[in-house]
Amino acid sequence: MAARSAAPFVPDRADLAALRRAARDCEGCDLHGPATQTVFGAGPEDARLLLVGEQPGDVEDRTGEPFVGPAGKLLDKALAEAGLGRTGVYLTNAVKHFKFQERGKRRIHKAPARGEIRACLPWLHAELAAVRPELVVCLGATAAKALLGDAFRVSEQRGELVEVDGLGVIATVHPSAVLRAPDRAAAYEGFVADLRVVREHLPADAARTGRDVKAAP
Ligand code: URA
Repeated sequence: MAARSAAPFVPDRADLAALRRAARDCEGCDLHGPATQTVFGAGPEDARLLLVGEQPGDVEDRTGEPFVGPAGKLLDKALAEAGLGRTGVYLTNAVKHFKFQERGKRRIHKAPARGEIRACLPWLHAELAAVRPELVVCLGATAAKALLGDAFRVSEQRGELVEVDGLGVIATVHPSAVLRAPDRAAAYEGFVADLRVVREHLPADAARTGRDVKAAP
């Protein structure tokens, strides 16, 4: 049987608005069935920094916006502390549908399978082609696997700048992992430290070109 893929649903050389419209009808894997809607990326088309998470959570599935639940709130705070404001950043996920298991009335997050990550990759590649960021941040192992391969270990290589097909990529932990960490304060400090490294790697001319990653207020 042929591998499932979003590729037939992704329009060629499309801008973000066209991609977002097309993604609503994606049936590239089975996750679209139980999910409420596709949660596409959000942010300016000329963002210099693009952040990739895992998949939408329960709140994102209901609202249709990435990173608006508890992990998103923590991410906003950490970005601000690192000197990066969310408004100038394009935020997306490796997988565009919420994968969950029903337990009573609750919907419990389930990690996407390798085939689902691979099936969704054409959307991420199309977003990268439309935004052309100067730096990409992988938040957690799913995003790192999608862009850097299965052998990449976030625990060993977090905060390091690596290059993939001419694109600078830095991986760090997922904000949900910070929320779950036994020592949350230490995990949060480590997360902010990685984001400060990201800030340092952004070109110094950002403000002059008008494509700035807006500094946090
Ligand atoms: N976790 C993610 O990886 N992405 C979201 O959008 C929300 C939570």
